[in-house]
Amino acid sequence: MDGNRAVIIVAMNEETGGPRVVLNNGVEIPQVGFGVFQIPEEGAQSAVESALAAGYRHIDTAAAYNNEAGVGAAIKASGIPRDEIFVTTKLRNGNQGTDSVRREYDGSRQALGLDVIDLYLIHWPSPARNLYVDSWKTMEQLYANGQIRAIGVSNFLQPHLDRLLAETDVVPAVNQVEIHPRFQQRDVVAHGRKSGIAEEAYSPLGQGTYLDNPAVTLIADRLGVTPAQVVLRWHLQNGTILIPKSENPERMRTNLDIFGFTLTDADISAIDALESNGRIGGDPMNAEWTQIR
Ligand SMILES: NC(=O)c1ccc[n+]([C@@H]2O[C@H](COP(=O)([O-])OP(=O)(O)OC[C@H]3O[C@@H](n4cnc5c(N)ncnc54)[C@H](OP(=O)(O)O)[C@@H]3O)[C@@H](O)[C@H]2O)c1
Repeated sequence: MDGNRAVIIVAMNEETGGPRVVLNNGVEIPQVGFGVFQIPEEGAQSAVESALAAGYRHIDTAAAYNNEAGVGAAIKASGIPRDEIFVTTKLRNGNQGTDSVRREYDGSRQALGLDVIDLYLIHWPSPARNLYVDSWKTMEQLYANGQIRAIGVSNFLQPHLDRLLAETDVVPAVNQVEIHPRFQQRDVVAHGRKSGIAEEAYSPLGQGTYLDNPAVTLIADRLGVTPAQVVLRWHLQNGTILIPKSENPERMRTNLDIFGFTLTDADISAIDALESNGRIGGDPMNAEWTQIR
């Protein structure tokens, strides 16, 4: 993958959360995070508590996941100092707009029980609504006031990024998009990197749907690791930020245990070759959900 990415390598143990990527404003984000999409509110606290115990120090939620309160309760219960956990949440599509962003941001902050959110994202460009530029301008104000440490976007394709770059002041710190071996979005990634926007891979395991692919299992068998670890390591070596989700404590643990082996160039090429335009989620050009779920 082209483009430079500053990655701070720190020893992996339960207190560090693994390597960190330096975002375009100097803020550091743990390269591997824990995603909580589709974890119901009543299970979110215990899932995030297990994830923190496994060593994750970066949690990815969204207003639309309806589980921010559970995430916040887990952070509080963990006793881990606030500045050691990186928390991302996202603006609900149906609440985009100049004035509603401030209210929505406050709602997320309160549900999470946090004074400051580390990373706040526009969840989808929702182009038919034509409100993402206005929303971004309000987010810029919140950022300037120190209420958010970094602002970014999600599901933005080149036209959406170009418009934001042309009409607003702050370059997004990240663009969180669907990336996995069958859907690598190399054009979106390369375009973002040129402007200093770090890519974050959502559904990094392809939602676990093709981990039995022989290209992956062959490498896993040779290295004595799981197929999921191979796919996650591929993201890591590409310099991508990744946020796998699991509700299974053993998988949470192994999904983070990817720092003790290395894929060869041939392994990387074999996984690169799985690209097949295999999008799983919505198409950002026309996804217009207001609530998601
Ligand atoms: N910005 C967006 O629009 C957007 C969209 C989708 C997702 N996301 C974010 O990205 C995160 C991850 O994406 P995702 O949840 O869609 O997909 P994912 O992380 O690629 O895959 C999760 C699925 O894989 C299974 N799994 C996890 N570890 C496994 C392992 N080691 N072996 C086999 N199966 C395993 C999980 O089941 P178990 O739970 O049973 O382990 C779950 O069914 C989300 O939680 C969310 O934070 C963002």
